[in-house]
Parts: sequence; C-alpha cells; structure tokens
Amino acid sequence: NRRVTVRDLALAKERGEKWPMLTAYDAMTASVFDEAGIPVLLVGDSMGNCHLGYETTVPVTMDEVAMLTAAVVRGTERALVVADLPFGSYQESGVQALRSATRLVKEAGAQAVKLEGGERSADQIGLLVRSGIPVMAHVGLTPQSVHTMGYRVQGRGEEAAHQLMRDAKAVQDAGAFAVVLEMAPAPLAAEVTRVLHIPTVGIGAGHECDAQVLVWTDMAGLTPGRLPRFVKQYAALRSTLGEAARAFAEDVVEGAYPAAEHSFE
Ligand code: KIV
Ligand code: NA
Repeated sequence: NRRVTVRDLALAKERGEKWPMLTAYDAMTASVFDEAGIPVLLVGDSMGNCHLGYETTVPVTMDEVAMLTAAVVRGTERALVVADLPFGSYQESGVQALRSATRLVKEAGAQAVKLEGGERSADQIGLLVRSGIPVMAHVGLTPQSVHTMGYRVQGRGEEAAHQLMRDAKAVQDAGAFAVVLEMAPAPLAAEVTRVLHIPTVGIGAGHECDAQVLVWTDMAGLTPGRLPRFVKQYAALRSTLGEAARAFAEDVVEGAYPAAEHSFE
C-alpha cells in the first residue's frame, strides 16, 4: 500500500508531527494536492456549496459523493482519501451507515469515511470500525445540522464545553481514527487535543490541533464573497481564472487567437 494509512496518522500524533488536510472534489485538483504532498484529502460534502451550487450541504446525495470520491481516488496515488457520508445516509441506524460507507469504500475506493456527530453517532462509528472501515468523526459545528444549529462557534460556555469534550471522547471510544473539531474556541480545542490519543483536525479551532483542514476553494481564493474568519487565502484563483477567461474572450473577439502557431497548414 503506497497510500498514507490511518496508522501513519496515529504515529504522527505520537511524534508530535502536525499534518494538513484539504478537500478535493475532482481528479485533476486532487492530483495537484497529491503531488504537493498533502497526506489526507477529504471528499467533503462541502461539495454541495463549492462544486454543485447548493446553498448548504444538506441536499448532497450518496450518488454525488460516490462519483466525486471515485474521481479523487483516480487522481491520486499517495493521499489517504476520506469520503463524507452525506446528510441522511447514516443517521437512521448502524445498518444504514454501514450500507452507505461500504458503497463509498467498495465502489468509489475511499480508504475511510467521515460522519458528523459525537455521542449521537457513536453507535454508527462503532459498527463501521468493527466492520473494517476507518472512520473520521466530526464534532463542534456540524454543517448538516444547520437548521437546528446555525453556523456559529460551538462549545462556548461551561455546559457546551463539557458536551464537546464528551462528544470527542465518545467518538474516540467508538473507534474513530481522528476527529474534526469545527469552530470551537482555541483553548477548548487544545484541551481536547491533549486529552485524546487520536488526532484532532481543526477548522476554526486554533493552532494546537494535531492537524488542520480547509476547504480547498476557500484556501485558494476561488470561493466568492465573504469567507469565515478562520480561512487563510494562499492564492487568488478567482481573479487569476477570471483574467484568463477575459483575455481569451478578448483575443477571440479581436481575431488575435488563434495565431499562426495554433493553426494547422
Ligand atoms: O465537508 C467538508 O469540507 C468538511 C470539512 C470542512 C471538515 O467537512
Ligand atoms: Na463535511
């Protein structure tokens, strides 16, 4: 197996080595990240917002995740590919979760799956792990619950902080190999990271997590509009691509493209 494994990630935590994770939704972009050495790629249900034009992650289907996961797996050689279980594909029961996760691993080729929820999803996580499917958990802000939770920092206040810690421990006890902490106060995320023996993957959860994840279109400056405070933009792809499209359009209108060197005798 030339891919990164969940065992490698456990060793990284023992050694105190931090690692990056990015989302990917297609083979070509995934190959760029794979060549850049990103060890873990998430086929996130953020594809709903970033790739499919939905307003939230809620409408994303199993067919959509399966198709894009297969593309990301085909585009990569080394990265561990984690596929998100979309809303409605695992909440019903362990049996439903196992059926959905099996499809993403067996048909689409993911090496692991991710699902949202702490204590509330522990039964599903346990069954998947006992069945041989590595599970990344996701606690704190869980976007599939936008209609009950909204998009705000979780774990503020004593009771909420205790709940987040209970959720993190519950997914570890259920056998998750890592846990995403989304939009949690940095000191709380740091405490969770110290208490857990599995890696924490932060997004809007401060710098003391074992790993960090960003949505690639946010990280690369492709997403339009205002971005959450935790995003750092490492490129300005939206303006770069827009300029390329405008230059192409201008060349075509003016007859400057194609030139002789682009034409056949
Ligand atoms: O879908 C997604 O992109 C995610 C990450 C932000 C953790 O779940
Ligand atoms: Na997600």
